[in-house]
Amino acid sequence: FPCELIRNFSVIAHIDHGKSTLSDRLLELTGTITKREKGVNAQVLDKLKVERERGITVKAQTASMIHSHEGRKYLLNLIDTPGHVDFAWEVSRSLAACQGALLLVDATQGVQAQSISVFHVARERGLTIIPVLNKIDLPASQPEVIAAQIQSTFGIDPADIIQISAKTGKGVDKVLEAILTRIPPPNASAEKPLRAFLFDSSYDRYRGVVSLVSVLDGVLRKGDKIVSSHTRKKYEILDLGLMHPEEESTSSLQPGQVGFIACNMKESSEAHIGDTLHHAGASVEPMPGFRPAKAMVYAGIFPVDSNDFVKLEESIKRLVLTDRSVEVTRESSSALGQGCRLGFLGTLHMDVFRQRLEDEYNANVIITAPTVPYKIVYRDKTVTVSNPTDFPDTVDSGSRVKEVQEPVVKASIIVPQEYLGDMMDLCFSHRGEDMDHRFLDSAGASSRVMLTCTLPLSEVVTDFFDKLKSRSSGFASFDYEDAGYKASNLNKMVFLLNGKPVDALALIVHRSAEQEVGRTWVKKLHKVIPRQIFEVPIQAAIGKRIVARETLSAYRADVTAGLYGGHYERKLKHLNNQKESKKRMKRVGNVDLPQEAFYSILKT
Ligand code: GTP
Repeated sequence: FPCELIRNFSVIAHIDHGKSTLSDRLLELTGTITKREKGVNAQVLDKLKVERERGITVKAQTASMIHSHEGRKYLLNLIDTPGHVDFAWEVSRSLAACQGALLLVDATQGVQAQSISVFHVARERGLTIIPVLNKIDLPASQPEVIAAQIQSTFGIDPADIIQISAKTGKGVDKVLEAILTRIPPPNASAEKPLRAFLFDSSYDRYRGVVSLVSVLDGVLRKGDKIVSSHTRKKYEILDLGLMHPEEESTSSLQPGQVGFIACNMKESSEAHIGDTLHHAGASVEPMPGFRPAKAMVYAGIFPVDSNDFVKLEESIKRLVLTDRSVEVTRESSSALGQGCRLGFLGTLHMDVFRQRLEDEYNANVIITAPTVPYKIVYRDKTVTVSNPTDFPDTVDSGSRVKEVQEPVVKASIIVPQEYLGDMMDLCFSHRGEDMDHRFLDSAGASSRVMLTCTLPLSEVVTDFFDKLKSRSSGFASFDYEDAGYKASNLNKMVFLLNGKPVDALALIVHRSAEQEVGRTWVKKLHKVIPRQIFEVPIQAAIGKRIVARETLSAYRADVTAGLYGGHYERKLKHLNNQKESKKRMKRVGNVDLPQEAFYSILKT
């Protein structure tokens, strides 16, 4: 395939707007898969079990198609992008391998938060954007209204919008034609030295790491010796070929082509998304803007049965081989025993990982409350802390800490006008600042608004998204981008049982939320801790300051049960004895918090 017959493109869309359905339709229309195959695996491009269950794309899947048009055969490379904010970085990388993008918008829902964020990424990369309105088969669709919205939001001429139903197939042929006529071919040269752009990787138990590359220049052949621009490590190409849609080996990948390579890479951490590969001995300019994936949410993960640690660690290690963006270190807790501390790109990423661990490895786990990475600024140095245990006990004027900074994001929420007030309240109560809004449609009852504000990431990673959905009756869509660090009034809250801190429950809390968080957690603990033979104070403390307290009353064995009649003094004596021994126990008493208690506290 000479370059002019190659098209590299992506489908970009908000979650559920029909990206996978359209991708499948394109594969069918070009004969890459048949309808029967499709029946077996409802959506070929969505492979993971969690993805099918949640109906979202987690791992990008890429496929090549061959399409005949006016007597010529074209090679179309569809580069799939993940559809969630946690993976914004991967979206951006996948788009670097494309010249065009189909911007898919649901004609019943209209432009949503991620439609806007992905549009901007695509435009910044200079891609040709083909606007597509999907689901026009639905009676609730409003193609004209949404087309006007697309025009006012993106400055796109409504005449360029293609109306389709990915479900029935209506109009999909026009999309195929637009890919050929509107998207420019890659500008790659066989004469120049090899530059292959690595944009995705997966792990195969037998062959190790399998990477997806886009050949920007030159030719990549089986047996070639290649070098990573990022690590300078050397590899040999053992196998390569097209994704059609399964791997199909070829002898080479030509300039402008997209395909898989297997070389002797042992660990997925060696395959850096955004890396440029070149021939050994040659020197080339790597693709700019390389940045390793950065974990933004950390949590400890412990086995419910502490004897299972070895098994759990083994399972985590195996799973991490397939997902290079998860950071792993060991962690031990006096309450929960041996465990691992994991770093994730976001909370969805964390949930997906936990679910995969449970599904694929049968692991029964306890996950501690998520924490974001904080910066502790001392007079002479700055330390990043991603575990509450490492956070200084007090951050007051007397301590060595100058200030604490937390990561913040720029959030955008798109919502029907009538929910604007609720959404502003929600943002305020989550410490939102610099709030602003603008209308997306010209006035009308169904007019929608985009609300933007700065939010601490720690507020976003808890239950913000669930609240957003429930308080907008499911209508709000949400997206965010990194906005650096900001100084903040934060402290470590620890929980004391009978005066002893439970390390696994420590939290970082903002001054304004201390009372509420303290009370809520103390109540939760009170509910799940079994009564002891002595009285147990349950306290939330910040440094030496107690902010909340509950008392778990003692379980009193009835020592007088066997005494009938009027032996009042004997009864009293027994009760007093019991009191005395309880006092003793209280002094030395250690409250054992059963793992199940942790499980139920941390699950909610
Ligand atoms: P993510 O993978 O989460 O990004 O979602 P997606 O954009 O890939 O959406 P998907 O293709 O899974 O479609 C979401 C839902 O919309 C599914 O239930 C589809 O069956 C449905 N759907 C997609 N296209 C159409 C369409 O043209 N008409 C109708 N009626 N339903 C559609």
